[in-house]
Amino acid sequence: MRSMRKPEVRWKLLLAILLTAVGGACAQNDCSFQTKCNECIQTPGCMWCASLKNAQDNTASHCISTQTSNVQSICEPGSLENPSNNQSITEDRPLSRSDNLQSAHETIVQLKPQKIKLQLRKGTTEKIALTYRQAVGYPIDLYYLMDLSYSMKDDQEQLAQLGSRLTSTLKNLTTFYTIGFGSFVDKVIMPFVDMHPSKIDTPCAGCAKPYSFRNDLPLGPNGDLFSQKVREAQISGNLDSPEGGFDALMQVLVCKDEIKWRDQARRIIVFSTDAKFHQAGDGKLAGVVVPNDEKCHMNALGEYDAYASYDYPSIGQINKISKEKDIYIIFAVAENDNLYSDLSKVVENSSYGKLTSDSSNVVDLVKDQYNKITSIISLTDNSSDAISIRYSSNCKNPNAEPVTTNQCLNMREGDEVTFHLDVELNNCPAYKRGEVVEVKTLQDSLILEIEFNCNCDCEKQDDGNLPATNCSNVGAVVCGICKCFDGYRGEQCQCKTDGSGEELSDEEKCKANTNDTEVCSGNGACVCGVCSCYNNWSGKFCHCNRRQCLSEEGELCSGKGNCACDQCACNIGYEGRACECQTSDACRKPGDLEICSGNGDCKCGQCVCNSTQEVRYSGQYCDDCLTCSVSKCSEFYAGVLCRFHNPTSSNCNLTVIVVDNLEDYQEANSRLCSFVDEEDGCQIMFIYRYVEELKTYEIHVQREKVCPLPAPIMTIVFGILAGIVAIGLLTLLLWKLFTTIHDRREYARFENERSKAAWTAEGNPLYKDPTNTFRNPAFSATSEPLKQQEAK
Ligand SMILES: *[C@@H]1O[C@H](CO)[C@@H](O)[C@H](O)[C@H]1NC(C)=O
Ligand SMILES: *[C@@H]1O[C@H](CO)[C@@H](O)[C@H](O)[C@H]1NC(C)=O
Ligand SMILES: *[C@@H]1O[C@H](CO)[C@@H](O)[C@H](O)[C@H]1NC(C)=O
Ligand SMILES: *[C@@H]1O[C@H](CO)[C@@H](O)[C@H](O)[C@H]1NC(C)=O
Ligand SMILES: *[C@@H]1O[C@H](CO)[C@@H](O)[C@H](O)[C@H]1NC(C)=O
Ligand SMILES: *[C@@H]1O[C@H](CO)[C@@H](O)[C@H](O)[C@H]1NC(C)=O
Ligand SMILES: *[C@@H]1O[C@H](CO)[C@@H](O)[C@H](O)[C@H]1NC(C)=O
Ligand SMILES: *[C@@H]1O[C@H](CO)[C@@H](O)[C@H](O)[C@H]1NC(C)=O
Ligand SMILES: *[C@@H]1O[C@H](CO)[C@@H](O)[C@H](O)[C@H]1NC(C)=O
Repeated sequence: MRSMRKPEVRWKLLLAILLTAVGGACAQNDCSFQTKCNECIQTPGCMWCASLKNAQDNTASHCISTQTSNVQSICEPGSLENPSNNQSITEDRPLSRSDNLQSAHETIVQLKPQKIKLQLRKGTTEKIALTYRQAVGYPIDLYYLMDLSYSMKDDQEQLAQLGSRLTSTLKNLTTFYTIGFGSFVDKVIMPFVDMHPSKIDTPCAGCAKPYSFRNDLPLGPNGDLFSQKVREAQISGNLDSPEGGFDALMQVLVCKDEIKWRDQARRIIVFSTDAKFHQAGDGKLAGVVVPNDEKCHMNALGEYDAYASYDYPSIGQINKISKEKDIYIIFAVAENDNLYSDLSKVVENSSYGKLTSDSSNVVDLVKDQYNKITSIISLTDNSSDAISIRYSSNCKNPNAEPVTTNQCLNMREGDEVTFHLDVELNNCPAYKRGEVVEVKTLQDSLILEIEFNCNCDCEKQDDGNLPATNCSNVGAVVCGICKCFDGYRGEQCQCKTDGSGEELSDEEKCKANTNDTEVCSGNGACVCGVCSCYNNWSGKFCHCNRRQCLSEEGELCSGKGNCACDQCACNIGYEGRACECQTSDACRKPGDLEICSGNGDCKCGQCVCNSTQEVRYSGQYCDDCLTCSVSKCSEFYAGVLCRFHNPTSSNCNLTVIVVDNLEDYQEANSRLCSFVDEEDGCQIMFIYRYVEELKTYEIHVQREKVCPLPAPIMTIVFGILAGIVAIGLLTLLLWKLFTTIHDRREYARFENERSKAAWTAEGNPLYKDPTNTFRNPAFSATSEPLKQQEAK
């Protein structure tokens, strides 16, 4: 049995390689690996041949590519399972004509077709064309909800006006309208309404008994009756200013049958009031605490009778329900305050208008609303994840290319647009055979009854009860392959499961983990619970990839080890993913314990040396540092020095080669060292280099020391002397200059002082003549000196 299986596996592999070569990485490659009919047809591009022509050799796959050219020569005619998509329109009523809508009872058809049956195969797209034509005079349901609390007394005339204008507007828009009328006051309980017996029946002069909400006139086609009812409406009385309009609005929204909302109509509520509204929470004032239940509570008289049980609805509830029911609300308010315009922003698709004496703007709002809801057509669907639907349309430009969109704008009555739908089955859900999908517009819908083409017909017909010889007599042929009876497995039912029921199924035996989705890790075929792996895969679950062991040259573990699963087990001395590296021993300097001399890391047999800003190691073992003081220079210092001082000493045993010109011996890995001989101040220079072959250092020494030239002593002495003399002369000169300037200045000052003196220079005033002259009266009076004496 094993020998029967082997060739088939090989054949499949051959086919796979062939297809890989021919078709590139195309999905069709997968065909031959599909062993079941349903799996085959769920693979795009594959089909199943139940009866192969060359079945005898038992090597061909039943699952073949749809691209196969000579199908007739491979497969018996009529045994091919290749389901295609199928589309049949099951309901296709004509679109309503835009000009002869005569009867209001005629159902309006805007979308065509209405029902399609689809058979979809996984991965193939089915195209559907859908036509939409906007009907003329589309039905409108308009419900006029009026506040009849006492405050509206002065607006009553306007309300009646609005009522009749609404009728005529509707008549203008469409012949198929219905119009209805309801009114509200407030919850008939304290403190909203005066419950005193005298007030409860006639709260005010000419007033009606108060009520919460009354459906005065259900929707109907009679416009005159509507106008009459509105005119006759009687004001009632209540106490507080906010009114119970929300209670009424909720009832109008939810009481479909009582209000008589039609299915196929645009539904509008015109809500007219002049006062604020009560909302959720206000009911507490009257002890009503149960939130509004959003249900219809109308009695036989058409009145809301659960007002005392449920609180007012909230704004959120009104918004939610109006959206749910597709009903548009127009707030027509007498008092122009922002409350309702703000409210209309919160309630989706609602609008707000002031109630004026001629009510024209509310009428315009109704017209706008009508235009708005008829101008957009958009398609939506409720398909599940298994199905995807894409929409495209050229809308109203027949010459344009369709673009991806599910809506068209600016639709007018009578306009016709075509939508193209691409429907695709993304996957085959295990739990269902089909799905009903509704593609809908606001009012119309297309029903798609989709059947999934996920299983083969031959699998469905269950005639496989006759044991076949080629199924080891313990299985029947279904879809051309053996369907084994209980207790047997394998392609030819050749394997027994012993019927114990405890044994794992084949497929589970082919899974590494029970939670694996694929057998044999997706890299092999499961045959009778044993994996047979595809090329380059190995291991019990085909989880090992031989390619992980290949070196860059394509050699398995570089020839230095064995491939175990997906990892190389390298021989001693080798390491790395594909044993491409020598172990760290190659990084160790002979005789050294440290790898890369402790200055680097061993990467695949090569030292990768450490290097920082200041320290950069180099050399085969990172044992040198050309940039730092740590070098072998000092190691050789003594040995070289003794060559110059004491070469004959036995201690001077370092082998050196003395050379004339050191530069001639400089090599890439040699290092130049130099130091000064302290005895004579001359520089000794040598180079060393590690010689790998000799495992020793080779040292070349420069024969001549480089000595400094003798200094010129006489020049220095004379220079110094000359310097001293020059400095002395300069000092003298400076001294002379200084004294001269000083003397000059002193003399000038003296001159100056002298010129300022007030006395004559001839005589010193302090001077006293030391000699005294005495006149001798007896002496003759004419002598010269005497005269002088007197003048003084
Ligand atoms: C498509 O489906 C219809 C109705 O189910 C059937 O009559 C028709 O033969 C099918 N066509 C193909 C090509 O399967
Ligand atoms: C109804 O339509 C006619 C013509 O289209 C127009 O003259 C008339 O004013 C309209 N009436 C209303 C109430 O809009
Ligand atoms: C209703 O309101 C929604 C959300 O604001 C908006 O997307 C939609 O177009 C409105 N529909 C109409 C008919 O105005
Ligand atoms: C879609 O809507 C239609 C009609 O309402 C219903 O019959 C069908 O089950 C829905 N489909 C899904 C997938 O919800
Ligand atoms: C089994 O044999 C029958 C007749 O001998 C043949 O028709 C059928 O195709 C064979 N099936 C397989 C799966 O070989
Ligand atoms: C599958 O099960 C194994 C243990 O049996 C667990 O280790 C693994 O995380 C599981 N994988 C997933 C994807 O759940
Ligand atoms: C398997 O590996 C070989 C190299 O050893 C390679 O040439 C061949 O293409 C691989 N086969 C597949 C199917 O990847
Ligand atoms: C230098 O290399 C050694 C050995 O690999 C390592 O321990 C050390 O941290 C390295 N130093 C620097 C500065 O990289
Ligand atoms: C060289 O001399 C030193 C002393 O200077 C001594 O320690 C060393 O062993 C000697 N080496 C050889 C090879 O003689």
